[in-house]
Amino acid sequence: MKYSAAFAASFTALSLSAQQFESPVGSVETVTKDEAFWQKIREQYDIQKEIINLEQGYWGKMANPVQQAFFDHTRRVNREMSWYARKHFSQDLHAAREAVADALKVKKEEVMLTRNATESFVDLITQFDDFSSGDEILWADTDYPAYQDMMAWLSADRKVKGTKINLPAYGDEQDYLEAYQQAFEQHPDIKLMLLTHVSNQHGLVMPVRKIAEMAKERGIYVICDCAQSWGLIDFTIDDLGVDWAIFNLHKWIGSPVGVGALYMRQGTLSAVRPFPGEDAGDSDVSNRIHLATSNFASFMTVPDALNFHNKIGGKNKEARLRYLWESWTRPLRDNTAIEIFGATSSTNASGMGGFRLAGKTSYEENAALQLQLEKEFGIFTVVRKGLSAGSNIRVTPQIFTPVAHMQKLAEAINKITG
Ligand SMILES: Cc1ncc(COP(=O)(O)O)c(C=O)c1O
Repeated sequence: MKYSAAFAASFTALSLSAQQFESPVGSVETVTKDEAFWQKIREQYDIQKEIINLEQGYWGKMANPVQQAFFDHTRRVNREMSWYARKHFSQDLHAAREAVADALKVKKEEVMLTRNATESFVDLITQFDDFSSGDEILWADTDYPAYQDMMAWLSADRKVKGTKINLPAYGDEQDYLEAYQQAFEQHPDIKLMLLTHVSNQHGLVMPVRKIAEMAKERGIYVICDCAQSWGLIDFTIDDLGVDWAIFNLHKWIGSPVGVGALYMRQGTLSAVRPFPGEDAGDSDVSNRIHLATSNFASFMTVPDALNFHNKIGGKNKEARLRYLWESWTRPLRDNTAIEIFGATSSTNASGMGGFRLAGKTSYEENAALQLQLEKEFGIFTVVRKGLSAGSNIRVTPQIFTPVAHMQKLAEAINKITG
């Protein structure tokens, strides 16, 4: 088949499946275990069948209707080029920005789209302008490793003391609250901190609102990293209680790759300078970013991705993903040959999880285990190595992952550990 014919055929297949999907009815509890519904959701995606892919945390697969919209937008941009970019893109960007602001329940002026969470983060820390001598900054080993390095860089660059805390590799909400409380007490000069909503190491959900309240009492600026959390769990900005947050839409919201966001609550902008050369003003976060030439079609697809996400329902997605986490962690809780990382109960769990063979802390040991799961059992996962407790295997299903795949993982681990 010629490329163009294959392309057209895939469009037909995608639009057919797009018509078959209805929003779920019933309580979240009912929808979570409605296997027929989740099978229909599975049919909304172009699934790779050769491997059980439990490494869905890198970025999110677009659902077929979203992918189709992205193809259509890409074709339009490629056909109209500067005509589109100069005459129409600003309205589409505005619509995408508004859709994100609505979803997070914030004002449009408080959120701006970026190309990824990292762009949002780098702009925040490099443009932060409220350090005084003796100030300190704080981060943790559960933070995204590259951001830990960037916080260390910030500390050296601005000559402020940098403190990294090592959090428990697993625990409940109280364990993490106490760890942060202790850090605040031991370091009264903290001015700025990074707080990760869902850790990319093992999927642990941090009690952000409670930690942010403690931070606020001490006048600490909090950058909340929601790169991995938005769409994996369901929340709006009010649930976090933070002034600043960074997001990805290309993970769990299911947009094309190349879309992030920066949120800054109105009234908090003066501590962060505008992007070099951008207009002055503290009422609209868009001057803290310089988007430059980007993938226009990715931004144009944001409303399509949010529509698809909302059609399933954020709460349904969150609960289903946590159910998938329970499906492999529960059968393994009594297996003393392994350590399960992250959440110790559903209260601070997301769909993402982690484990390793007991005492096998090195990257090499975990890499060997990852390879064994892949080669012997056809299960793809990834090794993470950012925690002070050592490496672990991260396990991340998606909403289209069948429960049977999680059970296969549990069986494989039981087999490996004898
Ligand atoms: C917690 C967390 N923060 C930040 C990032 C960086 O995201 P991006 O590379 O899209 O900027 C990731 C990516 O996996 C992440 O999991």
